[in-house]
Amino acid sequence: MGMSHDQPHSTRVIVLVGLMGSGKSSVGRRLANAMRVNFYDTDEMVAAATRKSVRELFAEGESAFRLHERDALIDALERASQGSGVVATGGGVVTIPENRADIEHRADAVVWLDADIDELVARTSSGTHRPLLDGGARGKLEEMQQERRSLYESLATLRVSTKGRSSLPSPNTSWPNSDRSPDDSSS
Ligand code: S3P
Repeated sequence: MGMSHDQPHSTRVIVLVGLMGSGKSSVGRRLANAMRVNFYDTDEMVAAATRKSVRELFAEGESAFRLHERDALIDALERASQGSGVVATGGGVVTIPENRADIEHRADAVVWLDADIDELVARTSSGTHRPLLDGGARGKLEEMQQERRSLYESLATLRVSTKGRSSLPSPNTSWPNSDRSPDDSSS
């Protein structure tokens, strides 16, 4: 169903995709705040649902993590669709065909944050919570980019190159009613 401009309060679901470190969570949170809608982060939802870290889940096998991630995605899309919402996904969500189909079906916009390898390496260099980067972040990120680029590309309705951009708020983003903040039901 297409959106028309005379329906400003219609449902809007925005899904962010992209590699680890591309900024999905921080951009998503800011976008949701600016739009005053709920924010959902599939990695956080997996952690909340399982009470385990991504690293602990990967220790049980990547497929175990992907199953929990799929549940979180379905839940996030469902909840976002009930009102409006921004969904930040884990970088590997697009590797599961059913996930791609659900995103395509539910999202009004899919934003691909496309970052280059140097940026991704820099942004993922702190923290040890990304087991897929063990044993050399650059090489692993290059591999993932090779494998996933076309998936992000085919799913996205909008590609944003993050080159040289930070997710810091711009000084011109104050809104008339910006004191009203959305309830964050993501955690
Ligand atoms: C993964 C990305 C991570 C997390 C897990 C696997 C991936 O999320 O879901 O470590 O396969 O690219 P972020 O993209 O939020 O770091």
